[in-house]
Amino acid sequence: GLVYLNGDWIAPEAAKVSVFDRGFLFAEGIYEVVPVYHRRPFLAEHHLARLTRSLEAIGIEAPGQAFWLALVDDLIANNPSIESGLVYFQVTRGAESKRNHLPQGPMTPTIFATFTPMQLHWDTPAPAKVTLCDDIRWLRCDIKSVSLLGNQLLKQEAQRRGAIEPLLHRDGRITEGASSNYFAVKQGEIYTAPADHLILAGITRMWVIELAQRLGLKVNEQPFHVAELGELDELFLTSSSREVQPIGQIDDIIVADGRCGKVTQQLIDAFHASKR
Ligand code: PDD
Repeated sequence: GLVYLNGDWIAPEAAKVSVFDRGFLFAEGIYEVVPVYHRRPFLAEHHLARLTRSLEAIGIEAPGQAFWLALVDDLIANNPSIESGLVYFQVTRGAESKRNHLPQGPMTPTIFATFTPMQLHWDTPAPAKVTLCDDIRWLRCDIKSVSLLGNQLLKQEAQRRGAIEPLLHRDGRITEGASSNYFAVKQGEIYTAPADHLILAGITRMWVIELAQRLGLKVNEQPFHVAELGELDELFLTSSSREVQPIGQIDDIIVADGRCGKVTQQLIDAFHASKR
């Protein structure tokens, strides 16, 4: 398949960016991931609105919704063998002729996009393990920045502990995973962190809230704390690539009986039905 770089459609090996690109030198860039099911983008307008919000937050002037929607369609058309997958967009502030902390003038952003295959989940994923970690990231986690060093260090620590994701907290207040949002179920109600600057407000999170409300479930967008984990009935993570992932264990704590809970299963079924 071909990738998109600054207006050109080229083989991935041929895609080259300047060493003076501010994305490379300062991690000054934004990315977005849009799922495509059966060659149709899923919740694309929401992903693209978030991309625009993040670009505005760091002052990169980039094309609007119509450009991105057309680019999604072109990526799908230029990769005819991919049935379902993930579109990846990355926009950096661009390149100058040398390294300057501040840009020396108006800049042309570097725009890179790919479409890679993904296996769709139709079954219920096995309940997985997460591990509690101190959320060492910065205070603008609402910006979908390519500066992912904090997330990467936390993911590596989780891997060392045999967990699929770190479950992050700030002074006991649970924020999210390193590339996912969490949902807790307690006494029949759902809790998920509020969409403030401490989390990346997932589009899957938004969709699962909507599906839960349609099922008549109460969703509280309220902080949930480490101290409450012992009272948990169910826990799951959401993201574009994981969809709805049941969690059966937090470090040495088994969540309920370690199986996929009833509410989680209901939401997995509703999610699968919504992507057909
Ligand atoms: N990650 N929180 C963080 C920190 C994330 O990086 C992501 C997504 C999410 C979930 O967002 P969404 O439901 O919109 O995918 C939450 C993407 C998938 C990634 O890093 O590849």
